Amino acid sequence: MLKNFCITAVLLFVFASCSQPAGEGGKATTDTTASARDEHTLSNADSVKMQHLDLDIKVDFGTKTISGSAAWAIDNRGKVKTLHLDTYDLTIDSVFVDGKKVVHTLDSMIQFLGSRLNIPIQDNSKEVVIWYKTGKNARALQWLEPHQTGGKKYPFLYTQSESIYARSWIPCADGPGIRYTYTAKVAVPKDAMALMSAENPQQLNDSGIYHFKMDIPVPAYLMALAVGDIRFRSIDSRTGVYAEPTMIDKARYEFADVGKMVATAENLYGPYRWGRYDVIVLPPGFPIGGMENPRLTFATPTIIAGDRSLVDLVAHELAHSWSGNLVTNATWNDFWLNEGFTNYFERRITEAMLGKSFSDMSWELGYQTLVANVAELGKDSKDTWLKLDLKGRDPDDGLTDIPYEKGSHFLKLIENTVGRQKFDAFLRKYFDEHAFKTITTEQFLSYMDANLLHGDSTLYNQINVKAWVYGPGIPPNYPRSNPERFKAADSIAAIYGHGIYGKDIETRNWSTFEWLEFLHKMPDNISIDMVKKLDEDFRFSSSGNSEILFAWFVVALKCKDDYMPAMTAMEGFLSTVGRRKFIEPLYTALMKRNPALAKEWYKKYRSNYHPLAQESLDKITAGQKLS
Ligand code: BES
Ligand code: ZN
Repeated sequence: MLKNFCITAVLLFVFASCSQPAGEGGKATTDTTASARDEHTLSNADSVKMQHLDLDIKVDFGTKTISGSAAWAIDNRGKVKTLHLDTYDLTIDSVFVDGKKVVHTLDSMIQFLGSRLNIPIQDNSKEVVIWYKTGKNARALQWLEPHQTGGKKYPFLYTQSESIYARSWIPCADGPGIRYTYTAKVAVPKDAMALMSAENPQQLNDSGIYHFKMDIPVPAYLMALAVGDIRFRSIDSRTGVYAEPTMIDKARYEFADVGKMVATAENLYGPYRWGRYDVIVLPPGFPIGGMENPRLTFATPTIIAGDRSLVDLVAHELAHSWSGNLVTNATWNDFWLNEGFTNYFERRITEAMLGKSFSDMSWELGYQTLVANVAELGKDSKDTWLKLDLKGRDPDDGLTDIPYEKGSHFLKLIENTVGRQKFDAFLRKYFDEHAFKTITTEQFLSYMDANLLHGDSTLYNQINVKAWVYGPGIPPNYPRSNPERFKAADSIAAIYGHGIYGKDIETRNWSTFEWLEFLHKMPDNISIDMVKKLDEDFRFSSSGNSEILFAWFVVALKCKDDYMPAMTAMEGFLSTVGRRKFIEPLYTALMKRNPALAKEWYKKYRSNYHPLAQESLDKITAGQKLS
């Protein structure tokens, strides 16, 4: 009785919160992976199947615009009279349907979402060609001046399309549940190479024209382009690195194990299905750590530490080749299905490559991040649910640590409850059966019920799915790893400065994680003498490891007096690095401490940051809290 009650209650809840299906081309009722209603696209791709995109564009560094045509092969399955597409700050010059010019309209701008493009079509229309150019406010694009690159000689362009920014450089149906294949012809200045999330060149050609093909259907948020003075180095037969000439050797050294990483991931959850796996290391303004663009991960140079210590970020982006790119969250409300699974998978790769003693540290740091993030958002906040509610909001609002850490801890709890063997077999099947499909939280939960929990009320009670997915904060049954290797860092941190200093401490074998743990445990009211001593002992201010450097700046900012070597290093860091994870907390802390200085630095360095980082930092440095 109890058993049935529990399961019925969970499933009722699950279906009650499942929004109206509106999947691809009317398949919604029969296809269990059809997407739920996506609040963040103005397109009607549920009625008109977007089959293929043929992009023909020119990248102009002089005017900072991309212009050209987007030819969409369509199937008007819903027999609708109008095709609606997403655009954001695009100028639409003309539109042709099956070769005939038509009269299109562009709706007024809706906050976050952009302007809906309306194109009259017939029941049997096959091709829609849109001639367009990008605008000054293209949120996906960062145009770098030569001085903002490593080589300082050539300009650089990169895109960041996740979550809904593809529409600012391509007129498209911009929802994670809408997939299409693409080809592209991209014209760039002669000295530059172009790369996309597709089959890529490995050499500069002298025509300045590059052709691309992605014959596996992908959603718009995985459209990506990088243009600049770029070189390639091979790692093994299916992996390699791209970077500016000034960075290419360091990048090749740092990523030497990426080939092994792909094999390790395959061993866990099945074949890598995208052909090649390459990584491009971008100039330092890149706003995020990494982006899982298919076949070509985009990465920040802040992971090049010189000692391969930060390559777990690559494990994360690689893991997205399964969780995210292969099985995709249906809407941004289901974002934890992309990021929570990927964080879990990343740590499994790390464990397989470096051992449990290592991945345990990553789990613990993740747990600490989760606790801090819940405290920041508020323990009762709906933004701490796994299933998000981003209706009417910028999907960027959902980009917190919750989907990552609460999501991965939920999966770890399930693993612990059912046992690793069963859970791994389940995940492998999940990836196989949902390959190249889209999934909602509710579909995942019912799939898990049918294929893993089998309605077992004891397991349901132990896990408490509802509390994790549709409830706030951290449920009491969270798993905790208690890493052995943090014991030394913790006990040393507790006594450091009380007669114990660097020369007394054995830190030779510490990884980045132990250093982070040590720095996180420094007291809130740390004295200037202790900050000075720490720097003398461990030379943190000149660390080449961005994670350690960042944690060090946080410690220095806790001290009520300015410790100048750290402040100088911080200014140097903020002058070039655009990674939001680092610079947003630093500017926030600086605003509390010395608003005049925060504003002065921001004014000087704002142009080095990506438009999306500028948007949030404009608010932070104006004294507003981020929403
Ligand atoms: N897909 C994300 C980045 C992202 C998410 C960009 C949502 C825009 C909107 C990527 O895989 C990611 O999670 N990057 C992390 C790296 C990490 C957790 C190791 C980052 O950039 O810090
Ligand atoms: Zn991710």
